[in-house]
Amino acid sequence: MSQTLQDIHQILREQLRAVTVSPAQATAEADLILEAVLHTLPATVVTDGHRPIPESQCQLLWNFLEQRIQKRIPIQYLLHKAFFYGLPFYVNPHVLIPRPETELLVEKALAFIKPGMSVLDVGTGPGTIAIALSHKLGDSVRITAVDVSEPALKVAKINQKTLNTSVNFRPAGDLFAPVDGERFDLIVSNPPYIDEALKPTLEPEVLWHEPSGALFPPGEDVYYFYKRLAQEGKPFLNAGGRMLMETGAGMTPGVCQFFLAAGYKNVTAMRDYADLDRMVSADF
Ligand SMILES: C[S@@+](CC[C@H](N)C(=O)[O-])C[C@H]1O[C@@H](n2cnc3c(N)ncnc32)[C@H](O)[C@@H]1O
Repeated sequence: MSQTLQDIHQILREQLRAVTVSPAQATAEADLILEAVLHTLPATVVTDGHRPIPESQCQLLWNFLEQRIQKRIPIQYLLHKAFFYGLPFYVNPHVLIPRPETELLVEKALAFIKPGMSVLDVGTGPGTIAIALSHKLGDSVRITAVDVSEPALKVAKINQKTLNTSVNFRPAGDLFAPVDGERFDLIVSNPPYIDEALKPTLEPEVLWHEPSGALFPPGEDVYYFYKRLAQEGKPFLNAGGRMLMETGAGMTPGVCQFFLAAGYKNVTAMRDYADLDRMVSADF
């Protein structure tokens, strides 16, 4: 006897509990898998739950589930989709999956930006921050984005096309090299900041599948990119310009010190939605 949509939804939810943080997340992922494979909306499980599902489609669902549970591939990479700032971004394992807390960095950037300003996103990945800003602001602001990873920039350009934005993505290069000689009113960055020593504590989804170059700074120094942003960023900022960065929890006092020592003004640590110190703003 073939399994019904309801049966399958229940099996998916139960199995996904092993790799998700809450029953709500397991249900959300089950809904996404059904939507991807069977093209059903979540409500269909209630309105048409007794519908039998053909064996061929069940097989596709079990393959999907196996990749998620055995290989711990993040659902976003399996679906090639992650939402950020209400926008659907294409993602693959060359890019960090956008995190909800980074949306606050976009909010802080929007509060500073005025029409006619120029903005640089350093370490853009799939274009997360730059594209969210461009989508919101249109052509009133000139937005440029850089990354050291060529494959990540390819993903960013796919997102640019799909989301119809006008970010100027530069050829791959280290930090400010792709914008040598230019100046911006706002530099925004969410650089790699995870301590290599924390590797044993990371979920397999992160450690096995997300690009290490997007997670860990080189060497043993978690402040590597903040030191460089503070020291090397000044020639790229207009007078009155601002640097706005995401940091790891607990890192803001150290990051503030580097910016104060480099002569920035109004150096401020800010809290995220979870009330953790997760952002630093510094004016030039
Ligand atoms: C934490 S991810 C941030 C991605 C995206 N901006 C976001 O907020 O979701 C850091 C990004 O910095 C890039 N990156 C690492 N080293 C870099 C460097 N030396 N110069 C420029 N970008 C770099 C990585 O390729 C990665 O895309």
